[in-house]
Amino acid sequence: MPLSQVLPPEPLLLMGAGPVPIPHAVAQANGVVINHLGETMGKVIENVKSMAQYTFQTQSPFVLGVAGPSSAAMEMAMTNLLWPGRKALILENGTFSNRLGQMAHGVGASITRIISKEPSPININEVEEALKKENFDVVTLVQGETSCGVYNANLREIAALCKSYGALVVVDAVCTLTTMPLKMDDWQLDVVITGGQKGLSSIPGVSLIAFSEESWRTIEKRGKTGPHWCYSALRAQEFWVKHNYHYTAPVPGILAMYEALRLICEETLEARFDRHKKSSLALQAGIEGMGLRLYVPKEYRLNSVVSIDLPPGVDGYSMRKYMNEKFKVEIADAFGHNIVRIGQMGEQCRSHNLFRTLHAMGMGFIHVGYGVDLAAGMAAMEDLLVKD
Ligand SMILES: Cc1ncc(COP(=O)(O)O)c(C=O)c1O
Repeated sequence: MPLSQVLPPEPLLLMGAGPVPIPHAVAQANGVVINHLGETMGKVIENVKSMAQYTFQTQSPFVLGVAGPSSAAMEMAMTNLLWPGRKALILENGTFSNRLGQMAHGVGASITRIISKEPSPININEVEEALKKENFDVVTLVQGETSCGVYNANLREIAALCKSYGALVVVDAVCTLTTMPLKMDDWQLDVVITGGQKGLSSIPGVSLIAFSEESWRTIEKRGKTGPHWCYSALRAQEFWVKHNYHYTAPVPGILAMYEALRLICEETLEARFDRHKKSSLALQAGIEGMGLRLYVPKEYRLNSVVSIDLPPGVDGYSMRKYMNEKFKVEIADAFGHNIVRIGQMGEQCRSHNLFRTLHAMGMGFIHVGYGVDLAAGMAAMEDLLVKD
């Protein structure tokens, strides 16, 4: 059966928590295969790295691509910096920050967790108490916890604190990179991880990771003794620095990443942050304007993924199904919370996508019997979108 008969006649507008819509140039690049070790690929790799350095805001030469989802890049960080006898402090506010802990445990490190009650950010005082009691080799945290929509706005302060205690800081910026400021070098972050399918508006399955000079020294000291081949950072360096064989690289995905990064560099980070902020705040105003409640308080609400409370008795599944079928718009449910989530990453932050999504959601709520003031919501959103 041809794929065209499996896919819906009209693609859904992807307004969930990722993957997100991709620009045409990214889609085109994803259809090209070239020799992964040829001279042309060498140029591609060098350009991808320098554009990635800009997005991570780092001068570090240790920027690598990973063939795999963001979780593979998370795994690369954990397996290269942790092993039996090493200690990690895991700062958790949801599914993905918890995943870093599971990975650290999986590679045999001893772990201590600080778990914030959802939805709330990491409390820096609790981090300091833990650091005073014990020496940790690594501290992990997310910039934005997609699963519930919490933003750790104190990332910079937490990183500075952890560095003052001698720990390496690993940051999951999977849903936040290029949607809001992150300055790897200025903020003393040792490892930053991101995926393709969110803020970068590339395809899923090819990710990026950047290591600081300090974290790289730890990796070099250990050598190639770790259990992994694909996730060995030293082996990956063969391809990403020396252009030699490590494994057959995911060529189309790297070319897609190239175009995604090029578009980011052309837009500039500052303009991109502004576009994301303006779009997300307008969406939030629209949601509240129609009479719905946002799940996370404003002070630590993540702009990249907006969580909306489902009022008691509202069937979120039927509401989202109606949005899919009637309006061809998809938003996300959540990891066990009574919320739905709308993504505000990359191409999702375009006003035509916002209007279509907010309208479809309002109609969805009305369809399942929950009265919202759709016109007021649309007006509130428009009001902020047209403001300079
Ligand atoms: C903050 C965060 N970290 C990690 C991941 C895992 O990404 P992937 O599914 O690409 O492995 C996600 C995916 O939603 C995420 O939002």
